[in-house]
Amino acid sequence: KEAKLWGGRFEESVTDAVEKFTESISFDKALYKHDIMGSRAHASMLAHQGLISESDRDQILQGLDHIERQIEAGEFEWRTDREDVHMNIEATLTDLVGEPAKKLHTARSRNDQVCTDFRLWCRDSIDTIVSCIKHLQVSLLKLALKNDGLIVPGYTHLQRAQPVLLQHLLLAYVEQLERDVGRLQDCRARMNFCPLGACALAGTGLPIDRFMTSNALGFIAPLRNSIDAVSDRDFVLEFLSANSIIATHLSRLGEEWVLWASEEFGFIIPSDSVSTGSSIMPQKKNPDPMELVRGKSARVIGDLVSLLVLCKGLPHAYNRDLQEDKEPVFDSVKTVIGMLEVSAEFAQNITFNQEKIRTSLPAGHLDATTLADYLVKKGVPFRTSHDISGRAVAVCVQRKCQLQDMSLEELRSISPVFDEEVYDFLGVENSIRKFSSYGSTGTECVASQLNYWISKLGIK
Ligand code: ARG
Repeated sequence: KEAKLWGGRFEESVTDAVEKFTESISFDKALYKHDIMGSRAHASMLAHQGLISESDRDQILQGLDHIERQIEAGEFEWRTDREDVHMNIEATLTDLVGEPAKKLHTARSRNDQVCTDFRLWCRDSIDTIVSCIKHLQVSLLKLALKNDGLIVPGYTHLQRAQPVLLQHLLLAYVEQLERDVGRLQDCRARMNFCPLGACALAGTGLPIDRFMTSNALGFIAPLRNSIDAVSDRDFVLEFLSANSIIATHLSRLGEEWVLWASEEFGFIIPSDSVSTGSSIMPQKKNPDPMELVRGKSARVIGDLVSLLVLCKGLPHAYNRDLQEDKEPVFDSVKTVIGMLEVSAEFAQNITFNQEKIRTSLPAGHLDATTLADYLVKKGVPFRTSHDISGRAVAVCVQRKCQLQDMSLEELRSISPVFDEEVYDFLGVENSIRKFSSYGSTGTECVASQLNYWISKLGIK
């Protein structure tokens, strides 16, 4: 058996069970690129500070280049007995270039190394997720542009409430996604500080330059406190919180589209390319991708909860428990990216069943609130106008008709305030036209929202 890099004080080697149980190479090899990046910056700084020679540095850098190429070509031998990504790369570097490689870990610990790698990895992942969100926003906006003027029932309590433009609803998702981007960017900015040089926990007496490595790695500055630097995982807690909110948003979108694709609603028709069938029922065409978007939100939330529970009982500084922080983060990132991609794909592959939607609009007295607003304009106090409109609805329910089917005499028998102008407020089209205040669902308000997003998202 090869001696461990930390093996000096040990007389026995670890058991196979312990080796298998404690390894992290099976998953943390995903950090290889960022680990190499960190080592390059560290070696250059060590040479600049005179802690290693320039020739040592050059050999280290060449060795790291070689290792990176090997990994990318799938030719690198990942060894469980070398425990994790950091020691796999360092040990292989030593195999490759000998003595100079043994100087690379000067003024560095795996404790500061691992969270430097992890911050770099998360930073890149945030950028990827942000671009996936933009892609979904663009897909939703394009879907909105394709469905100009389409009125749909708006729901509260899943009961018919007021008419809205479909575009307005689609832009509501776009707004939510924009706040998700904001949360990720806030998280990225807070995350973007460098732990490297904090070493095990106490910092170092060797004359390193933490500002130099921090700069080279694109961080804003080195973290101020070495104990904090190696202890905390708040950057991933925040990241997975943002991911959980994204997942929750997408889950609601999924729920809505699954519902709308049902026979009972029938408002959307997903194309075959985003639907799947049943192994027993030949007629079935299911919106599985969006069901899974809803379903996978559970894992993303679970990943956050795993991390919160992992961290809550840990004393400062590094504890091996923290090795368990990787898989939930990798899973959360992978899952959220998949959810965003498939939601965009779904948005590009559905059509709204305009006929079905239009013929469903008369149900539910969607214009009752507009009727109350009409009475307010006539000087009736809102509570009274609510009551009058409610009594008109009660008549319609009995007569199985719509508000616009009531004659002026019938309306006037409820309140003398009604005049001919009332018909200008009834029916969903009229109703939509009345929504004019900022952020409302009226045609002009929605047009200005559309223009805002067209220029913000750079759509032609
Ligand atoms: N594989 C470890 C992790 O992921 C790296 C740090 C280990 N440090 C230590 N002293 N055992 O957290």
